[in-house]
Formats: sequence, structure tokens, C-alpha cells
Amino acid sequence: MQGLFITLEGVDGAGKSSHLDWLAAWFSARGRVVRMTREPGGTPVGEQLREIVLHEPMHAETEALIMFAARREHIEQVIRPALAKGEVVISDRFTDASFAYQCGGRGLPDARLEVLESWVHADLNPDLTLLFDLPTEIAARRLATARSPDRFEREKGDFHARVRAAYLRRAERHPVRIRVIDGSRSLEDVRAQLAGILESWA
Ligand code: TYD
Repeated sequence: MQGLFITLEGVDGAGKSSHLDWLAAWFSARGRVVRMTREPGGTPVGEQLREIVLHEPMHAETEALIMFAARREHIEQVIRPALAKGEVVISDRFTDASFAYQCGGRGLPDARLEVLESWVHADLNPDLTLLFDLPTEIAARRLATARSPDRFEREKGDFHARVRAAYLRRAERHPVRIRVIDGSRSLEDVRAQLAGILESWA
């Protein structure tokens, strides 16, 4: 059985977390071993870096470097070993998030991150990325009722609109890998769309 690397992406409040367990169950029901993980995080070092990057004020480049430092560890400790065993790795965010938040949101040039990307995982990319998309006003309304917000969720102005636009640009550049899911639809509609996409990956 070949390993499968799936990532979930989207602006904060787009609803990807509501579908994580369902996705895992979908693959388990088809006899696959599923490894759920997340970024930033997924390893002891990565989870410590997550605490820092989500809560401590810092330069945008420091932020990008921490995301990739956590990712380096995540690939080494979790992603590669699981894929080598033929497992389905489902990661709640990966490098598309760095391009969306650190480049789109914070304004770093794509070229900076392309260097880090080729350094950290030139030969590893998700097989499939599910991008949960919805208008940022709806996402903001959903977030308003959420638990205490982190540094990214607290961002004001058009930060989230820039993140969303950057995600959609990535989806245009990688139309086969990145599938855009309409996150404003009902849970049932979203699941039907997901099931249609997953059929070819069973
Ligand atoms: P998130 O998945 O939203 O966690 P939670 O659902 O618990 O809030 O991820 C945390 C934040 O990290 C999110 O706002 C996006 C940000 N992030 C980046 O800015 N760059 C990255 O490379 C990654 C992986 C995440």
C-alpha cells in the first residue's frame, strides 16, 4: 500500500477542523491506517514552537523560519516514517499555510519562502490538498464565537482577506493538487463534495 499525504488548509474559521475526524474515518473504513497530525506542531519540538509562534510577538521572517523549523522536524519524525509504512497522513495545515499567512498576510516575498521550501522539502509534497474557502466576513463571524483567539485570529483589517487571496492564487497555480471546497455550504454538502474528491484516492 502506498502512503498518501493529504493536507487541509483555509483561513481561520473556514471549518476544516469539523471535517478532520470524518476524513480519518473515511480512510479507516477503507482499511487504511490514518495518521492525523497538524502544523505548526505534530512533534514535541514542533508543539513547543507552536506555543511560541501563536502567542509571542515577532518579526514576520522569524515567524516564517519557526514555521519551517517545526516543519523540518515534523517531516523527519512523523510524515516520512508514516508514508514509508504506507499510511495516510492527514495534516491540518502545511506549507501552503506559510505562503498564505507569511507571504499573503504578512507581506513576505514568495521567493523567500520558496528558498525554505526547497531546503526543507524539495522532494516531498502533499498528494492532495483540501482548501476550505469562504468569504472572510463569514469566517470572522464564526471566529467571533470561538475560544480565545491566537495571534493570527486576532489580526484585523484585510489580513484575512489577503490570506484568502493568497490561498486561492496557490490553488490556481496547483489546480491538480489543490481542490477548493466551498466552506460556506452545509456540513452535508461539504461532505458530499469531499466524498466525490476522495473517491479516486480510496
Ligand atoms: P490552526 O490550524 O488555525 O489551529 P487552530 O484551529 O487550533 O486555531 O493553526 C494555527 C495558526 O497558524 C493559523 O492561524 C495559521 C497559522 N499558520 C501560519 O501562519 N503559517 C504556517 O505555516 C502554518 C502551518 C500555520
